[in-house]
Amino acid sequence: MNNIYKNCTKTIEKAAKTILDGGLIAFPTETVYGLGANAYDAKAVASIFAAKGRPSFNPLISHIAEIDFLKEYALTDERVFALAKKFWPGPLTFVLPRIDDNPALDLACAGLKTVTVRMPNHQVALDLIRKSGVPIVAPSANKSQTISPTTAEHVFESLGNRVDMIIDGGQCKVGVESTIIDLTGSDVVVLRAGGIAKESLEEFLNQKVLISDGNPSLPASPGQMLKHYAPKHEFRINATCKQDDEFLIGFGDAKDADINLSIKGDLCEAAANLFAYMRIADSQNTYSKIAMSPIPQIGLGLAINDRIRRAAYKK
Ligand code: TXA
Ligand code: MG
Repeated sequence: MNNIYKNCTKTIEKAAKTILDGGLIAFPTETVYGLGANAYDAKAVASIFAAKGRPSFNPLISHIAEIDFLKEYALTDERVFALAKKFWPGPLTFVLPRIDDNPALDLACAGLKTVTVRMPNHQVALDLIRKSGVPIVAPSANKSQTISPTTAEHVFESLGNRVDMIIDGGQCKVGVESTIIDLTGSDVVVLRAGGIAKESLEEFLNQKVLISDGNPSLPASPGQMLKHYAPKHEFRINATCKQDDEFLIGFGDAKDADINLSIKGDLCEAAANLFAYMRIADSQNTYSKIAMSPIPQIGLGLAINDRIRRAAYKK
């Protein structure tokens, strides 16, 4: 018997109660499925790390359902609220100076003086947060260093019964994780490329947005380990043609592609298909290698390239 629940009022009520009782709920967001716990329950937060097999120094994103809640959690200013009003609910996460000194939140923040917050654009996620009445911390609902889940079945394959309930909200629309920006200084710094393109931020803010990308003078993200999103099969990126024993994930007009992220060359469509197609490629028994066509380094292409570079990384 699996623990996947259909989304309905009863499911949300049961899940909210489970969150308040210290349990773990996997729920859909517009980006990927999250593995959620009450942010103020350190024991529940610890059980997220245990279920994922994740290094415990990694801080987690708090998911909230009201912009005004930010004031209770973090040091805010006009820039923060302007960004929230423009991009929330949506795939944009803020790293902000922490003001909540509740020690129960220390684990979620991994001992840092910053908190990390976003408002997901998915009705199930918002209903669950509102019903629970607490911020819900959630990393992606998969084992550490494996491909992020974009369906309830993916969550079940990766975490099985280590989670109390998995709420099925269908396939995630965005398909790559949120863009994380550091707002602790006067510069806006992208710590992780994701569902909101850097260009959209620059256009809205009317200023240049920096990308941290290992630059020691800029803020960094402790979770951006090089080996991440690792498929079991050997993985080659920027492949302009298919070689022997390779299953080719194509993009645009790629020839010989076994599957294609977007025949139209649409980066949004490609992002939404990315993790699911990597899974399909990795489950092929008649091939031992995966190759992927080049993806243009613009818009959501930055997030896609960041993910596949990690998937292809060799120790
Ligand atoms: O789309 C998403 O963001 C998904 C859904 C579930 O919301 N969540 C997600 O969480 O991707 P997770 O835990 O897999 O990735 C969060 C990343 C980690 O790499 C972590 O190190 C970084 O955010 N991070 C969190 N708090 C941070 C902080 N205060 N400073 C720097 N990096 C931080
Ligand atoms: Mg993750």
